[in-house]
Amino acid sequence: MSQRLRHLTSLENMPSATIERLLDRAVSMRDACAHGTRKLDLLAGRTVLNLFFEPSTRTRTSFELAARRLGADVINFDIGLSSTSKGEALFDTLHTLEAMHLDTIVVRHKISGTPDELVRHAMSGVAVINAGDGNRAHPTQGLLDMLTIREHRPDFRQLKVVICGDVKHSRVARSDVHALRALGAKEIRLCGPAGLMPEASEFPGCTIVENFDEAIEGVDAVIMLRLQKERMASTDLPDEAAYFERFGLDNRRLALAGKGCLVMHPGPLNRGIEIASEVADGPQSRILEQVGNGVFVRMAVLCEVMGR
Ligand code: CP
Repeated sequence: MSQRLRHLTSLENMPSATIERLLDRAVSMRDACAHGTRKLDLLAGRTVLNLFFEPSTRTRTSFELAARRLGADVINFDIGLSSTSKGEALFDTLHTLEAMHLDTIVVRHKISGTPDELVRHAMSGVAVINAGDGNRAHPTQGLLDMLTIREHRPDFRQLKVVICGDVKHSRVARSDVHALRALGAKEIRLCGPAGLMPEASEFPGCTIVENFDEAIEGVDAVIMLRLQKERMASTDLPDEAAYFERFGLDNRRLALAGKGCLVMHPGPLNRGIEIASEVADGPQSRILEQVGNGVFVRMAVLCEVMGR
């Protein structure tokens, strides 16, 4: 039995047994709460704080739903209305909120490493979960992506995946690669414009393929990434039509992938830039399934870090 996690800040170096245990628990949660129609009381009396310094639709809402379905109290901290806007330092905000007796902080921040900083400064007994930090990690997205893949392709040793788009700025790509490698994926290809690709040394075990037609050939899953314009200098922004032409996923390109290839995207989508609507809304799309799985994965992670 792998050790219980006290915090979740990254999937880097996470053993496959821990990942599998969290995915199994997510499935148990889905069964136990009858796909969300029944509430559980595993976290009754516990308090979860959503502390999002960057915008979010999926992650923040699903953490809230997950906590509520487990019977916890949830505080959605509104940064815009908080004393952060008066210049209060992050750690003063942390200690102020801790004084109100929290059990878990779910944090999203534009600066990579912030969740680990919070772990170092948090009171003993307060768990920290990373909901996305800079371009570094988005561990619960990585887990929900693995759950979505595992439901359709249970044998990771046979799995060929391509991750395409703005890999350089993508915390999702980093967490997906950590999890895919831990689970023994057969082949992980990365594809995107040269200016949006990371150093190869940052992604050991992955193959960089420049041409998307070649990169997608025969894969079992394609994970498309959003162009993260908010993390780019305006001079780095690619021409959107040219980008779609070279790196967009449409039905013609999808036909080059393996039979029944899973189409995934963490969202939000830039339709017509990295993915065509015919694919995003098509029969092979698993995008909304990813969203649904996110709630159960986050229920599993909340129970894990709170020892339930
Ligand atoms: N996938 C993801 O993190 O989406 P949100 O930014 O909407 O949370």
